[in-house]
Parts: sequence; structure tokens; C-alpha cells
Amino acid sequence: MSKLAIYPGSFDPVTNGHVNLIRRAVSIFDQLVVAVAINSKKAGCFSMEERIELLKAVTSDIPGVRVELFQGLLVDYAAQIGANVVVRGLRAMSDFEFEFQMAHMNRKLAPGVETVFLVTGADEFYISSSVVREVASFGGDVTGLVPDIVKDRLRAKFEPKVSG
Ligand code: PNS
Repeated sequence: MSKLAIYPGSFDPVTNGHVNLIRRAVSIFDQLVVAVAINSKKAGCFSMEERIELLKAVTSDIPGVRVELFQGLLVDYAAQIGANVVVRGLRAMSDFEFEFQMAHMNRKLAPGVETVFLVTGADEFYISSSVVREVASFGGDVTGLVPDIVKDRLRAKFEPKVSG
């Protein structure tokens, strides 16, 4: 039987750290659902449609990866698609507290769902979507931090609009 895992997140936007993790996770599990959480409380930079489109574009060459949207509890979505493994990336100690709490909460809600952590790549440990957004919003160069298609979208989003 093939093993299905979920890699949930906000992906606002997808970074090279996410892509590195997706490639490694799918080499462990046969199928990986990259699940973009709909968060009605957080406006975000990219729309859900844009996040999905970008994720699909940057994972199109990776067999076994599917990109989906989900709303509500992750464990409910996991049950819905028949997955019992959640994959998350760990960059530094600062990630640990939130990840530890989330893994325990998910286990409390659904004891059959295991969280597996992959340590992020050595070249990506300092990359986060929020830092990328911040740098891009001030016109900084995000080459190497995000796939080129994401870099282009960020540039288009933040480039000064010529009025008149
Ligand atoms: O990329 P992020 O923002 O760190 O991802 C966090 C995410 C989306 C995985 C987490 O907030 C989540 O699972 N949200 C769905 C709601 C839920 O199940 N919450 C309970 C777990 S604490």
C-alpha cells in the first residue's frame, strides 16, 4: 500500500526551503499532498489561488506531489484524504515551540496522526515566507530564496505603480 503524507502550511509564498522539503518528503513517502491552509483571519500577501498556482508550477516536475486547499482542522482534512502522517520542516530552535505544540495538539485531536519533522536544508534554514515578503516589499533581491516564478510575482506585486 502506498504511503500518503500531508505537508500543510500557509505558503505565502512558497520558498526554496519549502521546495527542498517537498522533494525530500516525497522521497520518503510515495505521495505527498501539499495542503494550503485557508486562514480567514490572516489576509496574506498572495491569494489562495496564487499560492496554489505557484506551488503547482514549482512542483510540476516532482512525481507524487499534489497541491490542495483545505479549510478547518488539519486532522479533519487528513482523515478526509486518508493520510496519517503530517510532515513539517524545522529550521531552528525558534520553530520548535510552535511545532511541538501543534504536533501535540494534533495528536490529542487525532491520536492516529503522526507528525514527522524534516530538518531544512543547510542553504535554506534562514528562509521564511515572511522574511522573503519583507525583503521583496522593500525592493530587495530574493534570488536564490524563492523559485524564479515566485521572484517575478513578488517583483510585480511590489513594484512601484506608475500613475497618471
Ligand atoms: O506555514 P504555517 O503558517 O506555519 O502553517 C501552519 C498551519 C497551516 C499548518 C497550521 O496553522 C494549521 O494546521 N492550521 C489548520 C488549523 C488547525 O488544524 N489548527 C490546529 C493545529 S494547532
